[in-house]
Amino acid sequence: MSEQFLDTNVPGNPAYHFTIQPPVRDGGAGWLQRPELIPGAGTATQCVHGGVQPDPSYGAVMPPLYLSSTFAFKDICTNAGYDYTRSGNPTRAALEEAIALLEGGHGATCTSTGMSAILVALNLLPHGSHLISTVDCYGGTFRLLEHAKRFFGLEVTYLDLADLAAVQAAFQPNTRMVWIETPSNPLLRLTDIAAVAALAHAQPDCLVAVDNTFLSPFLQRPFDLGADLVIHSTTKYLNGHSDVVGGAVVAAPGRLALTQQIQSVNNLLGTSQAPHDCFLVLRGLKTLPLRMRQHEANAQVLAEFLAAHPAVGKVHYPGLPTHPQHALAKRQQKGFGAMLSFELKEGGNARLNHVLRGLRWFTLAESLGGVESLVAHPASMTHASMTPEARKRAGISDDLIRLSVGLEDVQDLREDLARALTFT
Ligand SMILES: Cc1ncc(COP(=O)(O)O)c(C=O)c1O
Repeated sequence: MSEQFLDTNVPGNPAYHFTIQPPVRDGGAGWLQRPELIPGAGTATQCVHGGVQPDPSYGAVMPPLYLSSTFAFKDICTNAGYDYTRSGNPTRAALEEAIALLEGGHGATCTSTGMSAILVALNLLPHGSHLISTVDCYGGTFRLLEHAKRFFGLEVTYLDLADLAAVQAAFQPNTRMVWIETPSNPLLRLTDIAAVAALAHAQPDCLVAVDNTFLSPFLQRPFDLGADLVIHSTTKYLNGHSDVVGGAVVAAPGRLALTQQIQSVNNLLGTSQAPHDCFLVLRGLKTLPLRMRQHEANAQVLAEFLAAHPAVGKVHYPGLPTHPQHALAKRQQKGFGAMLSFELKEGGNARLNHVLRGLRWFTLAESLGGVESLVAHPASMTHASMTPEARKRAGISDDLIRLSVGLEDVQDLREDLARALTFT
């Protein structure tokens, strides 16, 4: 008889010391009761455990990545809940459950990019609709709204939504959506979500959509303030590591039909997110509270530094008491976030380029919300898709510089800014 190597730790070896039971989710372990606890748990706990209970097949603690494009039917018209990955996928479902939980929504649908999340939301609008939008919205949002105007007849009014009288006056009988981006990109203007939602909901069938990308549900929960839809570019803070593009649309609590509609539109447009990308965003979500706290702490230090710097003119950051809507930020948000923008006291291309080229820890790049600090020039980068007139109307000057403050040591970032702002 050949010698056997008996190892109690290797499944399949005759000496394996655990009893193997067929793959079903039952047993005596405490974690099996965890799903009931999740709705009442704290946010950090929800970030770690939302949507990701150990897998029923083999108990994998991290959910498996289901890359399969299609799913076998067990019999004619009988499957295990999935048939084709565009319409549904277990890894994407886990992410959708987690994001809906964090936002306090009824359900979510995850999309290939933040732009496709916006596209899904706009596709809820019936033909002939009118939409009111934040005037300094993300440049890509502006480009999509202009496209919908030109090719699909959407009527759009851009407004500073802080002006509630102007908002009230802008409603038309066919207004079906108010598009709120708060804080806005790149001027960090705020919209009082509750006040605008109250005006919108006095109109028949008008949805309030809030792009919550800049703060994440850890710092702002628009459904608590009356929003109907929350939109994310998960490319930013929710993933947080600058290695995925993705988006999400979330429907408000109790809104079953709206949840079904966003999921259906995502499927029919073919904009659903690839499972691998969902897996990465799920991983990013677990550290969201830790990252957001540190992002914000760094941003506050840098905003104060810039505000006191002799070469700097205006600093746009809701965490500064000089921000015109600082009180609203304190009331509406659970923190001030880590996006800020500023203008030089004495502008012009030479000085602007000196700063953009001079920064060494801040990478000159589009996007935001990753662990690394980024600097962008909105007029030539993120908001280049706005016409110069639209940028002027929105108040985005050619001298504006936007920072996405990362997780580096704040003294390194401050020294970097100090160097780049030295003009001699
Ligand atoms: C506020 C906001 N919403 C939406 C988007 C679009 O997201 P994505 O680039 O993932 O398509 C962006 C992108 O920068 C953004 O800043």
